[in-house]
Amino acid sequence: MIPYGKQFLQQDDIDAVVETLNSDYLTTGPKVNEFENAIAKYCGAKYCVAVANGTGALHLASLVLLKKGDRVLTTPNSFLATSNSILYAGAKPVFVDIAKDGNIDLELCEEELKKDPTIKAIYAVAFSGNMVNQEKLKYLKNTYNIKILEDNAHAIGAIYNSIKAGSCANGDCSIFSFHPVKHLTTGEGGAVTTNSKDVYQKLITLRGHGMIKTSEMMPWEYEMRELGFNYRLTDIQCALGLSQLKKLDGFIDRRVEIAKKYDKTFYNSIIKPLYTYDGKSSYHLYVVQVNFSKLNISKEELFIEMREKNIGLQLHYIPINKQPYYKSLGYGDENTPMMDKYYNECFSLPIFPKLSDKEQDYVIESLFEVLSV
Ligand SMILES: Cc1ncc(COP(=O)(O)O)c(C=O)c1O
Repeated sequence: MIPYGKQFLQQDDIDAVVETLNSDYLTTGPKVNEFENAIAKYCGAKYCVAVANGTGALHLASLVLLKKGDRVLTTPNSFLATSNSILYAGAKPVFVDIAKDGNIDLELCEEELKKDPTIKAIYAVAFSGNMVNQEKLKYLKNTYNIKILEDNAHAIGAIYNSIKAGSCANGDCSIFSFHPVKHLTTGEGGAVTTNSKDVYQKLITLRGHGMIKTSEMMPWEYEMRELGFNYRLTDIQCALGLSQLKKLDGFIDRRVEIAKKYDKTFYNSIIKPLYTYDGKSSYHLYVVQVNFSKLNISKEELFIEMREKNIGLQLHYIPINKQPYYKSLGYGDENTPMMDKYYNECFSLPIFPKLSDKEQDYVIESLFEVLSV
């Protein structure tokens, strides 16, 4: 089976984990700090807090950035965790339509901000590894005095006009996920980056049960000052993350190579890449758009026939606002024509560093064959 994405583990990754298993620390030892410092350095942020998964990263960041009742502009085109985290904080997601590149439409965000002073934040997802327009983000932050969270779960290594994903150049917090389908993996894992010491300290406290140590010498002396969680990432996982991070740029180079080959192959065909390579995406996903109404096959039939050929296409994403839970909260009828069109026409093709040229050729041939184009 060729999936849409998967991890790339080598012997040095396994050796790094085994070395940690043989050390004194399995969790909250030196590897956690080392990993946090390495991630912060890689993206050019001052601080990084490693956590158990990307969802935990969003949860903690939301508790720090949002207040109960805040309204938050976000995208329907993401994994559930992005807007769920707004709900965790007692705030209210407001779904805004997407632009042509699959990201939240920042022009529409401005229209909402002009109309509604109760909007306190934008949660922007760098969908598929493609960062949102940073100048516009900065302008919106400064003009409307709002908080910005960048969900960079798809985008570690992405660059926009010299601004690296996770640097928080124009935002308050950025989050990453280190799930196996992402660019680098720790099994499960995630991180928040920020340039604010205050935000950093709050995140650290919330990650560890809301506890503050009150004595360096007496291990039992601590105070719980707020309701926190256990969202720790282990030393074992951080050892794997450190080993993977060394190879991240190479992984991205390979993703870019795969994307360029798809771009070239689909040029002038009925298969339209969501956006073509322009030097900034880190290509977590390779999304194409096909107008099924012009073909003799439905999207569902395409997925089934490709699966019969052992190719796992994927659809990122069902609009979050249309999920039953969100409908039960009164969502689902937003005016999002771009998202609707996207949902009907788009799907993701396999892209991951271990995908061989031969496998990619097989995916391309099969796609043309099944679509009969
Ligand atoms: C955009 C986005 N945000 C957040 C998450 C949550 O990350 P995790 O699975 O590590 O909890 C994901 C995971 O797929 C994601 O794609």
